[in-house]
Amino acid sequence: MGFLLSNYQLTICILLYSLIFCFSSSAHLCHNHESTALLQFKQSFSFNCSVSVGCYRTSGSHNTDSWKEGTDCCAWDGVTCDNTTSHVIGLDLFCNCLYGTIHPNSSLFNLVHLQHLDLSLNNFNHSQILPSFGRFTNLTHLHLNYSYLSGPIQSSSEEVWQGNNVSNSIFHLQKLQVLWLYGNRKLTGKLQSFINGTLRHLRSLALSEIDFTGELPNSIGQLEYLEELYLYDCNLFGTIPTSLGNLKKLRMLALGGNNFNNGQFPSSIGHLKNLEELYLQSCNFFGTIPTSLGNLKKLRILYLPGNNLINDQFPSSIGHLKNLEELYLSDCNFSGTIPRSLTNLTRLIYLDLSYNNFEGPIPQLFSNFSQLQSIDFSNNQLTGPIPSSITGLPNLQSLYLGSNSINGTIPPSLFHLVNLTDLDLSSNNLSDTVELDTFAKLEYLVFLDLSNSGLSLTTTNSTPFSFRKIWTLQLSSCNISKIPEFLKTRKEFLEMLDLSNNCLNEELNPLCNLHSLVYLDLSNNQLAGLIPTCLGNFNGNLTLLNLKRNNFHGIPQTFGYASMLQELDISHNKLQGVLPRSLANCTNLEVLNVGHNFIEDAFPFWLENLPQLKIIVLRDNKFHGPIPRKRLAFTNLHIIDMSHNEFTGTLPSEHFESMHSMMMDDEDKSSLNYMGDGNGYYYSVTIMNKGLEMELVKIITIFKAVDFSHNKFHGNIPISIGRLKALYVLNFSGNGLTGLIPMSLGDLTKLESLDLSQNKLSGEIPQQLTKLTFLEVLNFSQNNLTGLIPRGGQFETFSNTSYEGNLGLCGFPLSKNCGNVQIAEPPTLPSSFSRNFKFKFDGFGWEAVLMGYACGALLGLLIGSCIIQRKEEWLVRIFGVKRCQHGKRSKKVWKKLAHTKSIINCL
Ligand SMILES: *[C@@H]1O[C@H](CO)[C@@H](O)[C@H](O)[C@H]1NC(C)=O
Ligand SMILES: *[C@@H]1O[C@H](CO)[C@@H](O)[C@H](O)[C@H]1NC(C)=O
Ligand SMILES: *[C@@H]1O[C@H](CO)[C@@H](O)[C@H](O)[C@H]1NC(C)=O
Ligand SMILES: *[C@@H]1O[C@H](CO)[C@@H](O)[C@H](O)[C@H]1NC(C)=O
Ligand SMILES: *[C@@H]1O[C@H](CO)[C@@H](O)[C@H](O)[C@H]1NC(C)=O
Ligand SMILES: *[C@@H]1O[C@H](CO)[C@@H](O)[C@H](O)[C@H]1NC(C)=O
Ligand SMILES: *[C@@H]1O[C@H](CO)[C@@H](O)[C@H](O)[C@H]1NC(C)=O
Ligand SMILES: *[C@@H]1O[C@H](CO)[C@@H](O)[C@H](O)[C@H]1NC(C)=O
Repeated sequence: MGFLLSNYQLTICILLYSLIFCFSSSAHLCHNHESTALLQFKQSFSFNCSVSVGCYRTSGSHNTDSWKEGTDCCAWDGVTCDNTTSHVIGLDLFCNCLYGTIHPNSSLFNLVHLQHLDLSLNNFNHSQILPSFGRFTNLTHLHLNYSYLSGPIQSSSEEVWQGNNVSNSIFHLQKLQVLWLYGNRKLTGKLQSFINGTLRHLRSLALSEIDFTGELPNSIGQLEYLEELYLYDCNLFGTIPTSLGNLKKLRMLALGGNNFNNGQFPSSIGHLKNLEELYLQSCNFFGTIPTSLGNLKKLRILYLPGNNLINDQFPSSIGHLKNLEELYLSDCNFSGTIPRSLTNLTRLIYLDLSYNNFEGPIPQLFSNFSQLQSIDFSNNQLTGPIPSSITGLPNLQSLYLGSNSINGTIPPSLFHLVNLTDLDLSSNNLSDTVELDTFAKLEYLVFLDLSNSGLSLTTTNSTPFSFRKIWTLQLSSCNISKIPEFLKTRKEFLEMLDLSNNCLNEELNPLCNLHSLVYLDLSNNQLAGLIPTCLGNFNGNLTLLNLKRNNFHGIPQTFGYASMLQELDISHNKLQGVLPRSLANCTNLEVLNVGHNFIEDAFPFWLENLPQLKIIVLRDNKFHGPIPRKRLAFTNLHIIDMSHNEFTGTLPSEHFESMHSMMMDDEDKSSLNYMGDGNGYYYSVTIMNKGLEMELVKIITIFKAVDFSHNKFHGNIPISIGRLKALYVLNFSGNGLTGLIPMSLGDLTKLESLDLSQNKLSGEIPQQLTKLTFLEVLNFSQNNLTGLIPRGGQFETFSNTSYEGNLGLCGFPLSKNCGNVQIAEPPTLPSSFSRNFKFKFDGFGWEAVLMGYACGALLGLLIGSCIIQRKEEWLVRIFGVKRCQHGKRSKKVWKKLAHTKSIINCL
């Protein structure tokens, strides 16, 4: 967390702001025409706080509230006048919920004396940055970041061509020192234009998150006064020009999230002797960090996660950066032992080496680091014990050692780190039995994760008063047999509780006090009896409830007033009776998994009113009866698994026609995402796919599946099934279906697994199915199909087993030939055809599902919980939205974020 909150940075940031906007009131009255212009400007907008990014003003006042006709506009909030001339020279409407368009004739452009203009974090509804901005000839500060501007930022040459006045453009504001346009993703233009113009006096240029697809121009070196340059996530590629080294005044450089595909870490950065902060995350760099980096004696922050620095040598140049306070090298492919050169960095406050391949023991180098507040060594291959020298870090607040192979016992010195707020020892090989309350000596603990650490925890001496500040407690697989006492009395703070994979078998009612819980995971214990009513009624906070793999036999009918509940997993219990109808009140429910129980009920059509419901698993219960023959409102369903029940009747054609989400295959592949709660927690589900039971630890949003297998459905497969074009998995096996395989199945072009086995289907296999180019598994066995097996496409890859038990089928791959029927030649396709498609499949289907793509967790977090302070806005400015690079880090991110969130809320 620390890296988000360096006090020093924030101070600088705040200072900067107070320099920019000194809200000096003037003794002079403002000019009438300026007062009118301001009022007109105000009137041209509506005020809608819900449409601005990053600005979450739920209530409170706007600067414009004080703008009243007949009063002195120099006294209005957000307006600054010149002391002598009384002209309006400053206008600050940052995050003022303005919504509307800025027109070319806007009265704003009458305020020609403006020197400072801040309209950031409003919603200008895709207005353009008009040439009229060029009228502010004395403008020194222009802030238009995150304000929904779009269209071309015109370059001077384009304007000449259009016959416009060349000087009328922001590129010619000669006095401009600060220009922030970042976060307007729909702006277009050329980076070159900013350099070609007359913006020679720029000190701070922030153009992050604008798509400038292209190379970073060599002429960037001309902006010699630059102190801050933000070009994060601008779709830049190519090399970083050596001229960058000319920017001798640069203190802050953020080029992360671009694809500098020529790869070498730019050694010219070593010339930037005044650099204090360097952000180059996810830049596609590989190879060594150049020794010249060691020249940056003033560097305080080095942020390089997500590069491919594949050499085994840890860069010794980093050992020369003696002023370094923050070092982030996670996910850089480093290996070897944790380097000695770190010992030189005695000022370090934050050290993040997570997600590398560091091995060997944790070095005893801590005595040098009296300032250190946060260590993240998680997700490496570190071995050996937790060094007892760790006690030499009096200021340590966060210690993340999770997902390593650390062994031995917990050194008593760990408990001397009384300032610890975050402790992660999860997924290690520790061997120790510890009383949980020993950790309570760390009285400021907010985040504690001991899951799978190898530790056995006793809770017998637990007191009601321990862990007073805890927000996140993750104790999965810790051999716990008794619910710790403090959980029974705690009413506040605790948001996440994971006691899964333990041996709990007691009453849960004492947990009913935990009203602040957001995530509760008690899966894989021996809990029995009725599921406590209270768990279903944590109205307002609980979003995830996982009770799977216990011995619960009943679920109260009054369960389900949890209005925030998004995922409910009560699968693999012994639940009897009917589903509580009150679940229909959980209007935010997205995932309902009641699989593997003894529930006897009709099809829960009454769930159709849950507008968010995306996944229903009824698998392996005693659900029975027909599915109503009417259109149901399950429009958002992604996965429906009704297999292994006793449903009867025909397949519900009307029902398929209303599954809109399964029809939509228009999802934008560049924004592949996982289903989750939006805060970095991802849903998981176990499904049958390709003949195997698979746990999807994360579910990519484009994945859609229908499994009605092993019921007693009869009749035809409805033609309407062909409308579910987004399906990846379709399973109707083990029913009594008759008739032909509908040709419309050939429309399911995404299908990867099709199982119609063990039915009574007859007729020929439709040739249309050869169009299914992603089909990897096909099972038509045990039917009454006849005729020639089609050839071409994926059909060249299926084996006999796909067709077994259909006496009338003939042709490849079966040995039975079709008599005098002409054997169709396989269509002429490149020989790599099938493998190509498999490759595509691997890259875009399951592997994508299991491995991961982009991750927007932090965006949701930063934006979702922002309060109005420029601090957060500053965080977004530097980091943009792509802090986490790879899906593989999901769980960790979630853990950390859960805590981060709390802190951000407390800023
Ligand atoms: C204008 O007046 C305010 C207070 O009256 C003062 O703080 C500020 O320094 C003055 N600015 C200039 C430029 O004189
Ligand atoms: C711009 O600033 C200069 C020098 O301070 C001043 O003379 C001029 O009047 C200003 N122009 C406007 C439009 O305010
Ligand atoms: C920048 O200026 C150069 C010549 O000075 C010109 O060739 C180029 O087209 C200009 N680019 C833009 C985007 O204005
Ligand atoms: C520590 O810094 C000194 C002086 O800059 C340098 O000579 C030495 O090699 C550094 N030590 C390590 C271990 O990098
Ligand atoms: C805990 O941190 C504070 C400052 O954050 C420091 O003054 C104090 O000495 C630390 N506690 C210990 C035991 O070192
Ligand atoms: C810890 O692991 C190291 C090497 O992996 C081994 O040599 C050592 O004996 C282990 N210690 C314990 C206490 O298991
Ligand atoms: C949700 O959690 C908050 C914070 O702990 C708590 O104040 C509130 O009472 C909880 N809401 C409900 C409905 O229990
Ligand atoms: C839903 O909740 C309301 C009160 O909050 C209750 O009156 C109603 O009966 C509930 N519906 C079901 C199906 O339980």
